[in-house]
Amino acid sequence: KLLIIDFGSQVTQLIARRLRELNVYCEIHPFNTVTDASLAEFAPQAVILSGGPASVADEGSPRPPASVFELGVPVLGICYGQQVMMQMLGGEVTRHKESAEFGRAYVTATDEPLDLLKGWFASDKHQVWMSHGDHVSRLAPGFRPFATSPGAPCAVVADPDRHFYGTQFHPEVHHTENGRELYANFLRIAGFEGDWTMAAYREQAIAAIRKQVGDGKVICALSGGVDSSVAAVLIHEAIGDQLTCVFVDHGLLRKDEADEVVGMFRDHLNLPLIHANESELFLSQLEGQSDPETKRKIIGRLFIEVFEKTAREIGGADFLAQGTLYPDVIESVSFSGGPSVTIKSHHNVGGLPEKMGMKLVEPLRELFKDEVRELGRELGLPEKFIGRHPFPGPGLAIRCPGEITREKLEILREADAIYIDQIRKHGLYDEIWQAFVAILPVRTVGVMGDGRTYDYACALRAVTSVDGMTADYYPFSHEFLGETATRIINSVRGINRVTYDITSKPPGTIEWE
Ligand code: XMP
Repeated sequence: KLLIIDFGSQVTQLIARRLRELNVYCEIHPFNTVTDASLAEFAPQAVILSGGPASVADEGSPRPPASVFELGVPVLGICYGQQVMMQMLGGEVTRHKESAEFGRAYVTATDEPLDLLKGWFASDKHQVWMSHGDHVSRLAPGFRPFATSPGAPCAVVADPDRHFYGTQFHPEVHHTENGRELYANFLRIAGFEGDWTMAAYREQAIAAIRKQVGDGKVICALSGGVDSSVAAVLIHEAIGDQLTCVFVDHGLLRKDEADEVVGMFRDHLNLPLIHANESELFLSQLEGQSDPETKRKIIGRLFIEVFEKTAREIGGADFLAQGTLYPDVIESVSFSGGPSVTIKSHHNVGGLPEKMGMKLVEPLRELFKDEVRELGRELGLPEKFIGRHPFPGPGLAIRCPGEITREKLEILREADAIYIDQIRKHGLYDEIWQAFVAILPVRTVGVMGDGRTYDYACALRAVTSVDGMTADYYPFSHEFLGETATRIINSVRGINRVTYDITSKPPGTIEWE
């Protein structure tokens, strides 16, 4: 197994992800929890020192224990990790305003070949992603440069004899070409077989849930989306009937959604499920509210109220489980890299209040969406469920800009069902990351059957994305758009105009609110 020592980089989890893709087991430990004793006990086969926001030139800047370099195993330092390694092994790091590099940069290999870079340089200049102000100005004894960039003479350094490597750039990010190959080389050098799988992750996650929960009771907020479904099934495997799932029908669900989700979990998967029909509560509290954040906050508060009420009904619960994914927490990872349990004002069940009487269980918080889908397959969830487009906790509320009315929600449900049906019929569902209709808070004039209409306009949204953090609009054919608009206008009373939203993210967001 491999140990990643985290110095607080925003992309540390991406390193773990690259390693999992290469079927290698790793753990991320915040630097301030790693000691000589813990290192000896962990007995890593290789160590990666992550990047981080600190400067090694600063007093008290974070360090790994010196014994990391005495384990006799390969070490890879990335950015801050490289600098701290140089400093500790007798080199020097300086701050260079002029040579700070952020974003795209190009590195060139020196003449001497290096195992770590085997097959890596496809061209003379290789695109990498940098983010540094400091750089190595004097190498530690035993080290030589193997690649350089205009701003970093030590873009790649190594002491090949001891198998210590450092890169100034981030090989784990998508914009570093062939970063995966660099990790593959490192793992090969360290002797990993690449035989670790999602099945092993499942076992490990189950053990971690059992450890966290003990004999406590857990309620799981089930939305019917893939994340909470996978979380629920995983937790159920771990603790059986200590788990109760709650599916909150807030009156903001899509057409037939409640029946599908309840049928699937109660009848098909045999999970203990409470179907809390609270649409009156949610819709009455949302009446007259049109500010997006206010709507989200109200929904978040009511969710918690319902969870707490449900918890009381089942005789108390100690934990609330959620299908939070890594992209949901990416911005809230604390500097020390320690998992933060503070709930942010958006995401997951939408604007959760800071205080609630239960602790959180979030078994997917290290995973990315595609990994969650793989874990879902591993757990035997039907493909139809695994492939579902994401659906946000606040539901149709954030697809109904302005004031929410029952009439608008009904129109939205009908239009959305037709749109998704069109997408499925044309075989496009799996190509699209997420698609939905938003109903606009305006009425426009139309003419139908020689009569005047004055009805709502709606917008179709469809995006491609890898993780929901960035997205592009889906390039439907004009025929598809025309056919869909006609179907919606002909069969949904209340809509007389259809538009297509071609905004990417950024600058837009995927949802309308
Ligand atoms: P945005 O609109 O921020 O959405 O570009 C990115 C992804 O997150 C989903 N989303 C949410 N999911 N609770 C959720 O569970 C929320 O409050 C929430 N807000 C947005 C959105 O559907 C998209 O997939």
